Amino acid sequence: MEKGNEFTDKMNEKMEIKIFKDYQALSEQAASEIEEVIKLKPDAVICLATGESPKLTYQLLVKKLIDGKIDLSDCTLIGLDEWVGVPPTTEGSCHHFLYKEIFSPLGISENQIHLFDALSGNLFLECQNMDKLILEKGDIDLMVVGIGMNGHIGFNEPGIPVDNYSHVINLDSTTQTVGQKYFAHPTELKKGITLGLKHLLQAEKVVLLANGDKKASIIKETLEGPISIDVPATVLRMHLNAMVIIDEEAAGLLSEKTLLDSQTASNV
Ligand code: F6R
Repeated sequence: MEKGNEFTDKMNEKMEIKIFKDYQALSEQAASEIEEVIKLKPDAVICLATGESPKLTYQLLVKKLIDGKIDLSDCTLIGLDEWVGVPPTTEGSCHHFLYKEIFSPLGISENQIHLFDALSGNLFLECQNMDKLILEKGDIDLMVVGIGMNGHIGFNEPGIPVDNYSHVINLDSTTQTVGQKYFAHPTELKKGITLGLKHLLQAEKVVLLANGDKKASIIKETLEGPISIDVPATVLRMHLNAMVIIDEEAAGLLSEKTLLDSQTASNV
């Protein structure tokens, strides 16, 4: 099956691609996907990425809660990753983002929230505890993820093995540079702690969000390039229930064929 870093057996390629007019429309769809999972399974285990891509989705989810459309009081919420050494109170940390954008507005109680402690003196134990929690819960029902400019998911950087669970990783130079956008001041971003690609592949459902023309090239590689750990997001194509929700700008470089395949699933 494996050839170098490529996976030549694409038997499982089932990825659903949905293309929407703009960021607002893709975020509405993503919020509906989350709503659907919670309605089907009120005690769902949901793993959340941070960043620009899911921000509006989370705001729309908060609106759904205020409107009485969803109830998250039985859900377990897991943070996908964190910058090692960055305090949780720092604006720019994943911890800070998740509390600001979703946990506090949704009134999620502490016992429902599971985040990596990136200041821990024992990060290995942090990883073990996260893996143990997920194992005890059975499975992750839904992972909401973004995609890095280098194709990373979480902090699964290019070259990472697919059979990793939680781990600490040296961040590649693209992630260190792009990551500065979340911080008010230049911040050292050398390492990350993250759920692994194995979590991704074992999750019941994965929803990947991307918007804007800056993501067009990596989205093309992800959907049309070889499945390879050189572009970690491509492994999603081996997942049986993965969905990519993007806007027209992020879809801007896709081939006719991919666009035709995606039309069946999209609202465009
Ligand atoms: C953040 C995370 C990252 C981001 C990715 C895209 O928790 O896991 O993998 O999802 O870097 O970031 P944005 O959405 O800011 O472009």
